[in-house]
Amino acid sequence: MRTVGILTGGGDAPGLNAVIRAVVRRLAPEGYRTLGIRRGWKGLLDKSTMELDLETVSGILTLGGTIVGTSRTNPYKNEEDARKAEENFRALGLDALVAMGGEDTLGVANRLSQAGCPVVGVPKTIDNDLPGTDVTFGFDTAVTIATDAIDRLHTTARSHDRVIVVEVMGRHAGWIAVHSGVAGGAHHVLVPERKIDLDAVCGSVTRRHERGEKYSIIVTAEGAELPEGAVTQDKTTDAFGHVKLGGIGETIAKAVEERTGAETRSVTLGHVQRGGTPTAYDRMLASRYGLLAAEMVIDEKFGMMAALRDGKFAPAPLDAVAGPLRTVDDATLELVKIFFD
Ligand code: F6P
Repeated sequence: MRTVGILTGGGDAPGLNAVIRAVVRRLAPEGYRTLGIRRGWKGLLDKSTMELDLETVSGILTLGGTIVGTSRTNPYKNEEDARKAEENFRALGLDALVAMGGEDTLGVANRLSQAGCPVVGVPKTIDNDLPGTDVTFGFDTAVTIATDAIDRLHTTARSHDRVIVVEVMGRHAGWIAVHSGVAGGAHHVLVPERKIDLDAVCGSVTRRHERGEKYSIIVTAEGAELPEGAVTQDKTTDAFGHVKLGGIGETIAKAVEERTGAETRSVTLGHVQRGGTPTAYDRMLASRYGLLAAEMVIDEKFGMMAALRDGKFAPAPLDAVAGPLRTVDDATLELVKIFFD
């Protein structure tokens, strides 16, 4: 019997369980055994696994998070772990591994593949900024949650004549900010792709006030930067060198209050955007990614990832996610400007 490992790495995304379910549902009738590798690459280093069969994956389609757990462990941070990961891959008797993750997790998957381990990747991030695929699951859910929050913030902001700054996720790309900002009818949107111009933000608040619109909703991506740099929670970094972002919303809120005199509050949506049940769109998208990944295992298309390109699901090289991130393009930013201010 052939054994296929299934692993999820990096930040979780609604839809991961739908991928796991699809892979198991497609491979079980073909006689494959599926083995969950617990907590991302950490599970490969610890040889920590769990059996995944049809019973285990029953009822997980609507469940947020990942039933196999995740981590930001990087086995290629040192040579000993790198050797251990490659050795354990073989010791666990894996004939293939389906690894779901962003550029970091799939970067590790690519190195394992180059070391001779049969790996299939599935791209994942709620930020929707991975190159090599059109859209990632979890993004639609995050936008839906953020839009719902913005809708709710409109009524309280309007009642109190306040400015509310909403900080959403998006480390390098402002897709969540732009989509939820447009869908939620925000008055200003700030993204990592363009430096924050506080004069422009305050100008927009003041102009609205002068027009008699005494409240404003400003949406900012967590990765949006002031000319002096990003706002981070502390100086620590994870195993892939990422800082913990967070706090730009509060910084902007303080500046807006100081400069315009408008009463201002900030709300950070944070991990709420990653939690809970995926939208129907994300369940379907994730299921399609999972089915393609299983197909690629059967066809032994290793060293590749399941991708959606120009609306078609097809394998793409694993290193496609290593390219420059897919940030929000200038044309989109120019187009949506009409809705703001
Ligand atoms: O997965 C991407 C992401 O959601 C980013 O938008 C965010 O900066 C980061 O993960 C947060 O990571 P953590 O879960 O480690 O706090």
